[in-house]
Amino acid sequence: MSNPNTSGWRTATQCVHSGTQLDENVKGVNTPIHTSSAFGYGDPADNKYPRYYNTPNQKAVVDKLCALEHAEEGMLFSSGMAAISAMVLGLLQSGDHLVIPKEIYGGSYSFFRTELPRFGIGFTLINDTTPEAYAAAITPATKALYMETPSNPLLKLTDVAAIAKLAKERGLLSFIDNTFASPINQLPLQMGVDVVMHSGTKYFGGHSDLCFGVLLGRREPMQKLRTHAVNTGGSLNAQTCALIERSLKTLEIRVERQTLNAQRIAEFLEQHPNVLKVNYPGLPAHPQHELARKQMKGFGAMLSFEVAGGGTAADALTDRLQIIMPALSLGGVESLICSPRKTSHLKMSAAEREEAGISDGLLRLSVGIEAAEDLIADLDSALRAK
Ligand SMILES: Cc1ncc(COP(=O)(O)O)c(C=O)c1O
Repeated sequence: MSNPNTSGWRTATQCVHSGTQLDENVKGVNTPIHTSSAFGYGDPADNKYPRYYNTPNQKAVVDKLCALEHAEEGMLFSSGMAAISAMVLGLLQSGDHLVIPKEIYGGSYSFFRTELPRFGIGFTLINDTTPEAYAAAITPATKALYMETPSNPLLKLTDVAAIAKLAKERGLLSFIDNTFASPINQLPLQMGVDVVMHSGTKYFGGHSDLCFGVLLGRREPMQKLRTHAVNTGGSLNAQTCALIERSLKTLEIRVERQTLNAQRIAEFLEQHPNVLKVNYPGLPAHPQHELARKQMKGFGAMLSFEVAGGGTAADALTDRLQIIMPALSLGGVESLICSPRKTSHLKMSAAEREEAGISDGLLRLSVGIEAAEDLIADLDSALRAK
C-alpha cells in the first residue's frame, strides 16, 4: 500500500502512523520484518540492499523520522558516532576546516580531535557558542559549523537560527547534534540547519536497549552523504529497524512526560538546601531561558545539578538512590544519574574540568517516565540522609 503524505499530521499521529509499510497480503497493522539481504532486481534506481540504506524496514523508520524532523531525506547508522563520522567525512575533505564548540559529547570531541587530523581536516574549538565566537573562528577553508544544544552536561544553549543564518551568509554548511532535545522539543531544520544528527540510542530507542544513529536533512547534502555512506557501510539490520519503529510510536508521549518530570524535578532541586546549583533551560534562572523559550518547544528531560560537599557528597547521594539508577547513557524510560567526573569527563584533569565548569559535586540526571513524586522523594531522601 502506498504511504499517505503525512506532513499535515500532528506529531503524535506521525509517531504512530508515518512511514508504516502495510502488508496488503495479511492486513497486519505493522510493517512486516523483511529479513532478506538479497532482493530481486529490476529498475536499477530501485535496487534494494541493506548497505544502500533503502530496504523496507530502514525506509519505514526513516520516513517516520523525516516526518517528525521535517527532513527531506534520512539514513540510519549502527551508532550515533557512525552517523557523526559519516556526516563529517562525507561532506568535508582534506584541506577543509570545521568550527566545533568545546563543550560537546565526549565521544564526538574525541572523534574530532583524533580522526580529523588523519584526514587533513582542520578544526577550531570554540569556548563559547555565540554567533560572534563562531564568526571569529571561520577561516577561508571553513566548510561547516557544528552545534550541540543543549550541551552535555551543563545544558548551555546555542542560538540555532543565528548560527544557521551565519553559515548561509558565508556559504557554509550547518550541522547539529539534536540528541538531547529530540524533534519533540526542537526542530533545527526549520531553523535553517542543513543536517541534523541523533544518537538514536537515547530518546528514539527510549528503552536503553538499542544502539543506532540517524542523519536527517535537506536533500542536497543528504544525497552527497548517501554516496559516502554506501561506500563506507555502517547501515542497520531489519530486526533493529523494527524495534526502532515500535519505539518511535511512543516518542512524543515518552518525551513529553519526561520533559514535564524534568521541569518538576528541576524546580524541586532549585529550592533544596543541599543543592548549590541547577542547570535546566526550563528554569527562569537559567541564563539562556529566553533563548530556550524561543527555539525549544519543551525544555527537554536532561538536567544537571551541583550538590554541597563535592565529589564525596555526590557519590554518597548516588549510592543512596533507590529508583534513579547510576548508569551511563540517557533518554530511556528509566531515570539515570551519572557523575561527569567519573564518566564523560574522566579523561580530563581536575584543572581542565574546573576550567570547563564541571565541578566534582556535579551530577547529570536523565529523567525518565516514572511518577515525578516518586523521583522527587527518592532525590529528597538521598539528599537529606547523612
Ligand atoms: C549528545 C550525544 N551525541 C552523540 C552520542 C554518540 O551516540 P552513540 O553512543 O549512539 O554512538 C552520544 C552518546 O552518548 C550523545 O550523548
